[in-house]
Amino acid sequence: MKLILLGAPGAGKGTQAEIISDKLGIPTISTGNIIREALKSGTEMGRAAKQYIEAGQLVPDEVVIGIIRDRLAEDDCRNGFILDGFPRTIPQAEALDRMGIVIDKVIDIEVADETIARRVSGRRVCLDCGATYHIDYKKPKAEGVCDHCGSTLVQRKDDQPETVAERLHVYHEQTEPLKNYYADCGKLTVVEGQEELADTTRLTLAALGENA
Ligand code: AP5
Repeated sequence: MKLILLGAPGAGKGTQAEIISDKLGIPTISTGNIIREALKSGTEMGRAAKQYIEAGQLVPDEVVIGIIRDRLAEDDCRNGFILDGFPRTIPQAEALDRMGIVIDKVIDIEVADETIARRVSGRRVCLDCGATYHIDYKKPKAEGVCDHCGSTLVQRKDDQPETVAERLHVYHEQTEPLKNYYADCGKLTVVEGQEELADTTRLTLAALGENA
């Protein structure tokens, strides 16, 4: 299964990607996590991306297209993958097509902008393994500690309210047109992501023909 997860910042793409990845045994490729990892390690790409991420802007297309091209060439992607956060612009989607990648399904998780602020303000992330939690809706077993790797959970810098507002603006302007792009080729399924986590998971898995 080659799957794309679309949705606004904080819609729940990363959360659903983790669940689908466990269920189907295919890797999640999150451009956001890859870029944050590069930022943490201080690589040239990470340093170049810092200003964009912290301002809530998209990293230039050529950078993320290069990341995806390299990552999809790795062995673990042979039986499928979940793209979380890529493509985010029409040129990125066109680049994916030019790579000869045939996507099976695109799931768009729909959440109203008003709900996004509440979601992201309570989000806590593990910078080591990329797992995502929420202080109310998806608590770790021990407060502030990642269930998977035991690292300390932190709040992302770009989850500050003014940066979230800019990320939403960028989403509506540059990423939302991808819904039509994939609807036109019959690959888009829209999932209601507004309700409880378990409801979104049930609807997402149903869209893939899987039981929760
Ligand atoms: P990225 O990391 O991809 O950020 P994003 O798309 O803005 O998405 P988020 O990670 O914020 O949210 P999510 O949808 O994964 O939600 P989550 O599951 O965590 O990108 C960061 C930055 O990197 C970008 O701004 C850009 O600068 C750059 N970048 C990345 N990819 C790029 C690209 N392709 N091109 C250019 N630049 C790129 O859920 C949010 C919270 O809500 C969590 O706490 C979760 O536990 C909780 N939650 C989830 N679902 C529910 C539910 N149903 N009910 C209640 N709570 C829920």
